[in-house]
Amino acid sequence: MLGRYSLSRTGNFRPENLGQNALALIGNLCFTMFVIGVLIFTIIAATYEPEDPLFHPSTKITTFLTSNSNATFKSDNTVVKTGEDFMAANQTAFATFINITDVENITENAESDSKTVATAEVTSCEGSLDSPIDCKDPEVFHMMMRAAIEQFKDIHFYRFGKPVRGSNDSSCDMAWRFRPKDGKAAAFYKDYRRFAISRSENCTLSVVGIGDYHTGGNARKRKKNQKAGFEKKPQKQDQGISLPVVGEAVNDTLPVVESESSFSRGKYLIYVGGGDRCKSMNHYLWSFLCAMGEAQYLNRTLVMDLKICLSSIYSSSNQDEEGKDFRFYFDFEHLRESASVLDKDQFWTDWNKWQKKDGLGLNLVEDFRVTPMKLASIKDTLIMRKFGSVEPDNYWYRVCEGETESVVHRPWHSIWKSRRLMDIVSAIASRLNWDYDAVHIERGEKARNRELWPNLATDTSPDTLISTLRDKIEDGRSLYIATNEPDTSFFDPLKDKYSTHFLNEYKDLWDENSEWNSEMTKLNNGNPVEFDGYMRVSVDTEVFLRGKKQIETFNDLTNDCKDGINTCSTSAS
Ligand SMILES: *[C@@H]1O[C@H](CO)[C@@H](O)[C@H](O)[C@H]1NC(C)=O
Ligand SMILES: *[C@@H]1O[C@H](CO)[C@@H](O)[C@H](O)[C@H]1NC(C)=O
Ligand SMILES: *[C@@H]1O[C@H](CO)[C@@H](O)[C@H](O)[C@H]1NC(C)=O
Ligand SMILES: *[C@@H]1O[C@H](CO)[C@@H](O)[C@H](O)[C@H]1NC(C)=O
Ligand SMILES: *[C@@H]1O[C@H](CO)[C@@H](O)[C@H](O)[C@H]1NC(C)=O
Ligand SMILES: *[C@@H]1O[C@H](CO)[C@@H](O)[C@H](O)[C@H]1NC(C)=O
Ligand SMILES: *[C@@H]1O[C@H](CO)[C@@H](O)[C@H](O)[C@H]1NC(C)=O
Ligand SMILES: *[C@@H]1O[C@H](CO)[C@@H](O)[C@H](O)[C@H]1NC(C)=O
Repeated sequence: MLGRYSLSRTGNFRPENLGQNALALIGNLCFTMFVIGVLIFTIIAATYEPEDPLFHPSTKITTFLTSNSNATFKSDNTVVKTGEDFMAANQTAFATFINITDVENITENAESDSKTVATAEVTSCEGSLDSPIDCKDPEVFHMMMRAAIEQFKDIHFYRFGKPVRGSNDSSCDMAWRFRPKDGKAAAFYKDYRRFAISRSENCTLSVVGIGDYHTGGNARKRKKNQKAGFEKKPQKQDQGISLPVVGEAVNDTLPVVESESSFSRGKYLIYVGGGDRCKSMNHYLWSFLCAMGEAQYLNRTLVMDLKICLSSIYSSSNQDEEGKDFRFYFDFEHLRESASVLDKDQFWTDWNKWQKKDGLGLNLVEDFRVTPMKLASIKDTLIMRKFGSVEPDNYWYRVCEGETESVVHRPWHSIWKSRRLMDIVSAIASRLNWDYDAVHIERGEKARNRELWPNLATDTSPDTLISTLRDKIEDGRSLYIATNEPDTSFFDPLKDKYSTHFLNEYKDLWDENSEWNSEMTKLNNGNPVEFDGYMRVSVDTEVFLRGKKQIETFNDLTNDCKDGINTCSTSAS
């Protein structure tokens, strides 16, 4: 479930779908897969740090060439890496974190009371022992910053917001922006917590407790009040690179067209129909990004359908489920800011209003072999690509094949994962104090299929795991286990050596009472949204990727090949 090359396995390949020229199609598809593989390799090689343990590109490319099993063609439920994953942390080297020595004028007080986190001398309190703590007092601010820096050793702080009153007279809320100390990705995270503050008889203030992740709700400002400077949009650097800030309020409302004249002056591209619907999410993205790439090449606004269909491979009903929304899974706010897109419902409303009056032209393209280059000179307001009903010729991504490939570039940087999902990831990592190792244990169908994966079941059994992990992970560490094994008690024997954690422990982050749930319900017009299989795998994967050590199933735990027997290249191991 963690394969980043999974885009290559997108086709829902069924024999009954094949026409009489099945062999030609298979050849075609193999070639497609190869091309995709090369492309992905190029993207990753260009942008990703090779020390990542999941990085084995050569393996995969030879796999496309040599594979004679059907496994390569099965769509699977893996999560693809998205734009923010590819941004190396050094892109933000300009930002320096706040060193504790930068927090001025705090007298350190080696307290005997172990509950006290930090203290500050405030001498002007005579006679006001019972007065409320003034959260705006700079001394209090400094003390709180210091307490936070001392308490959270595994993160770096980049900015603190001014404290505000908490729930009562002796608590203050404060927000900050941080990054895990050992993180490889560029994203920032936002946290806001409640600090309990006590005043002793001689007026010394001390922080006696810091609440959990996101407890300091009063310090969480809405985007509307952006004056404080802290609430600025993801930082724009000189090169125009923006960075995700996980935990910041999300505003992913649909873009609107201001006026008739701005609508009618616009140029649009829309893709209609096709066989991509209800396919794996990787297939969806691969196709969607092709459409986006074409729109950008043509300098047109992409008219997109935010409604997406969740493939049965991720649904708890095991049926394809319509009525999902792009924003459940991806960051539409970022897409809207980094590319020109419009929702199709809004588009058609405006089109119907003004098309006749303003004489707007439509150019229909029904053959994917008509290249974007041939469409460059078209002046019509709307270019509509229509896709037929015969797979795989009706896949959107076919537009980007062949000679187009070198001309149209998929704008990967425009696709980030939903920040609401990433906030769950951040909450889990914060509960583990950003100080945990992670292991990905893939079992499921592969473990049951002894023909293609002869050793997987044994190599991922608790007894074998204990001995394999012995040299890799120190005893007593927190160990996050990302797995598709539904019964996590299976791994109970590992508890003797590690403090094990699984996704399901954190259900409160998405259940009925969670912030995620209330935001999603609002987004979904008042209807609750299920935390579905794709979201689960997405969160599981991202928590795994934030572990200090990351142990993968294939290569690290077993010598079986990811795609079945004899699919490893000789160079891999
Ligand atoms: C691939 O699929 C075909 C048709 O379903 C089947 O006959 C064949 O045995 C499969 N090959 C492998 C290696 O699984
Ligand atoms: C980031 O690091 C990569 C390789 O480690 C390097 O090629 C790139 O130039 C660096 N970027 C910046 C902005 O320093
Ligand atoms: C903080 O600053 C001090 C003094 O400038 C320096 O010695 C220390 O290494 C810095 N700490 C970190 C984590 O950079
Ligand atoms: C911090 O304390 C030093 C002396 O200890 C003083 O010179 C300085 O002005 C103080 N800074 C602030 C911001 O109060
Ligand atoms: C004030 O709030 C803090 C943090 O929630 C809590 O620890 C403390 O007990 C509260 N104090 C009073 C007097 O209620
Ligand atoms: C104030 O009282 C605390 C304990 O209540 C003590 O640790 C601290 O040293 C005292 N400070 C002064 C300036 O007396
Ligand atoms: C959300 O963003 C849209 C478009 O940028 C803007 O018009 C709207 O006012 C924003 N809503 C809030 C609540 O900030
Ligand atoms: C899109 O706009 C750019 C810059 O304005 C221009 O160089 C390019 O030729 C345009 N492309 C098309 C297909 O019109």
